[in-house]
Amino acid sequence: RTPLKDLTDNYVGSAVAASALVNENDYRSVLTDEFSSVTAENAMKWSVLEPNRGQYDWSGADAIMDYARQHGKSVRGHTLVWHKQHPGWLNDLSASELRSAVKNHITTVVNRYEGEIRAWDVVNEVFNSDGTRRDSIFQRKLGDGWIADAFRWAHQADPSAKLYINDYNTGWVNDKSNAIYDLVRSLRQQGVPVHGVGFQTHLSIDYSFPGGFQSNLQRFADLGVDVAITEADVRMTLPVTDSKLTTQADYYERLWNACEAVSRCVEFTTWGYTDRHSWVPNTFDGQGAACLFDESLNPKPAYNRINPTA
Ligand code: G3I
Repeated sequence: RTPLKDLTDNYVGSAVAASALVNENDYRSVLTDEFSSVTAENAMKWSVLEPNRGQYDWSGADAIMDYARQHGKSVRGHTLVWHKQHPGWLNDLSASELRSAVKNHITTVVNRYEGEIRAWDVVNEVFNSDGTRRDSIFQRKLGDGWIADAFRWAHQADPSAKLYINDYNTGWVNDKSNAIYDLVRSLRQQGVPVHGVGFQTHLSIDYSFPGGFQSNLQRFADLGVDVAITEADVRMTLPVTDSKLTTQADYYERLWNACEAVSRCVEFTTWGYTDRHSWVPNTFDGQGAACLFDESLNPKPAYNRINPTA
């Protein structure tokens, strides 16, 4: 079969667990064959990189970068500032110390891989579902301007990286996607270097497919930015049945086709590619089987649906 990465001009990616990449040959080999881009599932998050102030652990992030260099893979950087998985020591800082810490973090991480990361998720999940700013230490202590600052600092550290805002439940027109739309428009009017909007698209077959998904991607593209599907998966309530797998295939196909149809959609990345390594069962009790490949790395109906040569 033709691998997914050769079916399209878009980047086709997967989130990767650094430990699986290092320890599991079969996992690495299917990843290498099928995908053109990788995203660190956890290894580039602040709490992993700098658990204690000033003490960095680059092992996981470097392992992913080494793999990418060796195999000519593009890399999506994930994520510079997020309200989750940031180190505990941030909580004790004053506003001005926190501001320096954020600047220093962004500068250090983006500099380290300068020229090698195609796109960075600079800020992740900064809005509530009602479109208000999410309460986080960054929002509380630094105020609304922190997002513009984060983008400026990232751009200074690597002018060649495309800088994204990324979020979930934004596939249709709603208060949150409208808030991102308004923010991106206003940042760009102010000359802030925002280049893309990431749509996580963690979907479930127990809910309907996001209405107007493709036209929603298009309205963001019309702001003059790239759009990307950054964390796709489609979970289901276990046990797996043929009919659930068919619905899952429908959802994956619609995501894939929407990205193909929108010229500024540049990337289709899944949040893990195999049910062997997926965040879903750890987070949603009784749910799983969300990926394109099963636990033995065999393609599932969803894979066969988006790959006509399969
Ligand atoms: O590495 C530690 C290990 O040392 C420790 O013993 C163990 C005990 O709990 O935890 C391990 O860390 C876990 C980590 O995944 C690595 O496996 C964390 O507890 C766990 O919370 C963490 O979950 C990650 C989650 O983000 C955190 O919110 C998932 O793997 C990761 O898939 C998920 O990814 C997020 C994206 O970054 C943003 N969008 C949503 C997406 C899904 O939640």
